[in-house]
Amino acid sequence: MKETLAVYPGSFDPVTFGHLDILTRGLELFDKVIIAIAYNIEKQGLFTFEERKDLIQQSINGNNNVIIDSFDGLLIDYVKKVNARFVIRGLRAMSDFEYEFQMASINRTLNPEMDTLFMMTSKDYFFISSRTIKEVAAFHGSVTNFVPPPVERRLKEIFEKR
Ligand code: COA
Repeated sequence: MKETLAVYPGSFDPVTFGHLDILTRGLELFDKVIIAIAYNIEKQGLFTFEERKDLIQQSINGNNNVIIDSFDGLLIDYVKKVNARFVIRGLRAMSDFEYEFQMASINRTLNPEMDTLFMMTSKDYFFISSRTIKEVAAFHGSVTNFVPPPVERRLKEIFEKR
């Protein structure tokens, strides 16, 4: 039976083609996916929450099956609040595994009813991250192959002034 709802959490600072690939594949498994932008105490973002939301909105071409939201606090609490059971995460390389395994295990211990579904990132995107994209853009390199056009435009605007 197809589950109706999944949560795809992350910093999305900014959203990349890698995230959109996981989202598209997630929508083949779930009727609706909530993109949940998380406040991460360890990461100081380049974009505000509103900007991140806006850039995701512009990048999903008005897909009604995607809900964009943000949350503060524990992921398990957010998942409970929206009545979901599954969380989607992308795995890029072995280096992601340990961190993801730890998070999924903590989350499952805190809430045994919640489960995390991992998808291997497509070969075209396994090497990108929001940090590296921001670094390329900061030095005026091309990010066309890594991020959707609205994100590329916004990165250009930000780094033109610096
Ligand atoms: N393709 C390309 N890049 C991808 C990707 C994909 N499919 N998936 C993730 N990334 C990149 C991101 O761009 C990001 O890059 P960056 O580190 O350079 O910014 C990196 O991988 C990891 O980011 P993200 O997926 O956004 O995860 P995160 O580590 O920032 O946040 C949360 C993960 C939000 C799920 C986690 O911190 C969380 O649940 N926070 C709430 C508090 C909580 O409940 N913690 C758990 C208990 S301790």
